[in-house]
Amino acid sequence: MSQPALTSNNLDAFWMPFTANRQFKKNPRLFVGAEGMYYKTADGRQVLDGTAGLWCCNAGHARPRITEAVQRQVAELDYAPAFQMGHPHAFELAARLSALMPSPLDHVFFTNSGSESVETALKMALAYHRVRGEGSRTRLIGRERGYHGVNFGGISVGGIVANRKMFGTLLGGVDHIRHTHDIERNAFSRGQPENGAEYAEELIRLVQLHDPSTIAAVIVEPVAGSTGVLIPPKGYLKRLREICDQHGILLIFDEVITGFGRLGSPFAVDHFGVVPDLVTTAKGITNGVIPMGAVFCSSDVHQAFMTGPEHLIEFFHGYTYSGHPVACAAALGTLDTYEEEGLLTRAAELEDYWADALHSLKGARHVIDIRNIGLIGAIELEPMAGEPTKRAFSAFLNAYEAGVLIRTTGDIIALSPPLIIEKSEIDQLVDTIRTVLEALD
Ligand SMILES: Cc1ncc(COP(=O)(O)O)c(C=O)c1O
Repeated sequence: MSQPALTSNNLDAFWMPFTANRQFKKNPRLFVGAEGMYYKTADGRQVLDGTAGLWCCNAGHARPRITEAVQRQVAELDYAPAFQMGHPHAFELAARLSALMPSPLDHVFFTNSGSESVETALKMALAYHRVRGEGSRTRLIGRERGYHGVNFGGISVGGIVANRKMFGTLLGGVDHIRHTHDIERNAFSRGQPENGAEYAEELIRLVQLHDPSTIAAVIVEPVAGSTGVLIPPKGYLKRLREICDQHGILLIFDEVITGFGRLGSPFAVDHFGVVPDLVTTAKGITNGVIPMGAVFCSSDVHQAFMTGPEHLIEFFHGYTYSGHPVACAAALGTLDTYEEEGLLTRAAELEDYWADALHSLKGARHVIDIRNIGLIGAIELEPMAGEPTKRAFSAFLNAYEAGVLIRTTGDIIALSPPLIIEKSEIDQLVDTIRTVLEALD
């Protein structure tokens, strides 16, 4: 296909998401192709993908199994109604996904994005308590600095101020525990930090304040990504699970970025050995090729709904595109690719090399902390006086010019390359960042 001509006029109509639109349109950064670890830019350059797109292309780009599965599916069955009808691939996919998750997380509800997975999980939690006769449990607990997508439930339980402050009063009956970032005690930790398990005790304070009979669920990212990679202190997630169990509160893990091999095991659930009641996923489920998300729930949660007359709908929720045939085909092709290439555990093999490479940036200009887990990394920079975020944004622009795609949030560089990355490409990524940082104001 030929590339459309680009002029400042035809860039204008598209209001870009989470983008500095005016800055971008003055000097656009456009990808026109992708293969393996590299993007191709409109001006013909190769750019190493240090972020798996947006944490989603875990198997890298243009993977044949996925491409072929999508092409076949579009020709065979383009769409089937999602309500009161089905198609075989949705059932096949749900069965394969649930086999990847530890028991009892053995039921899957399909959505089209991480944000929708979060809304679905929150609604499932509220409805679960209600169908069991505990309808007073309506309160949802999130965490400061949490990111759970951009819909109203997600921004309400989320804790990123810029994503919340413009949008009114949000959902009522939401409270937050504190975040776990503790740079004073944990700077330059490799893997899980030693200090901070006690931050889980904040949940006890909220349980005492609100009474457990009013609390439906707690939602956290096992590793907080979008806020700049906050890795849970040792023992923290286990303690959250214990407190939830003591008080009949559902625990939701938002695994939209940690799912599908990012930490070196299929899910963070396996990595941390803590099993929640609900898990939200998206992104890597289709390698980013077709929008899709999935919520996993425990057999207990599912079973609670399976009562009443059999001709009645059990859960009044769903999307036109829940379990879309083309998305299911993409996901099945993705799972085949992950399995054939051992990608769901490859991050564990690379983790030491990755950690060494990242931590070699200690002492580089502006760096105040480095964090890593699985194939996730963060480099926190000292903000420019009076101009927060500007230094990291400049690093992003300069790295792009130097042929490497990184992501920044606040003054933090966040890295999450495709799981197919080679050691030489890890070196390229880190060396480029080093050069960029040394040249930055
Ligand atoms: C933890 C988490 N939850 C939810 C989302 C939202 O996903 P989406 O952008 O697909 O709606 C994201 C996106 O980055 C995420 O990181």
